Amino acid sequence: MHFTLQPVKDDGFVDREELLEEMISELMDIKSTTGYALYGKRRIGKRSILYL
Ligand SMILES: Nc1ncnc2c1ncn2[C@@H]1O[C@H](COP(=O)(O)OP(=O)(O)OP(=O)(O)O)[C@@H](O)[C@H]1O
Ligand SMILES: [Mg+2]
Repeated sequence: MHFTLQPVKDDGFVDREELLEEMISELMDIKSTTGYALYGKRRIGKRSILYL
């Protein structure tokens, strides 16, 4: 079985548009006090989202 411990980047990253839009607009808003914690099953893509 092939697997990698690297996050996916650029063209390798698919979907998650809605989540990314929400996170980026919230984090760019200087008045916002909202933060994010990413949790989920192993290999679900947490680090890939943070590194994008
Ligand atoms: N948005 C995505 N598009 C395509 N492949 C993805 C995506 N997110 C994750 N993957 C695939 O899943 C793998 C694991 O992603 P990532 O390392 O980001 O997950 P993780 O939740 O941080 O994992 P771990 O539980 O090991 O810490 C990547 O190497 C990639 O193959
Ligand atoms: Mg991880």
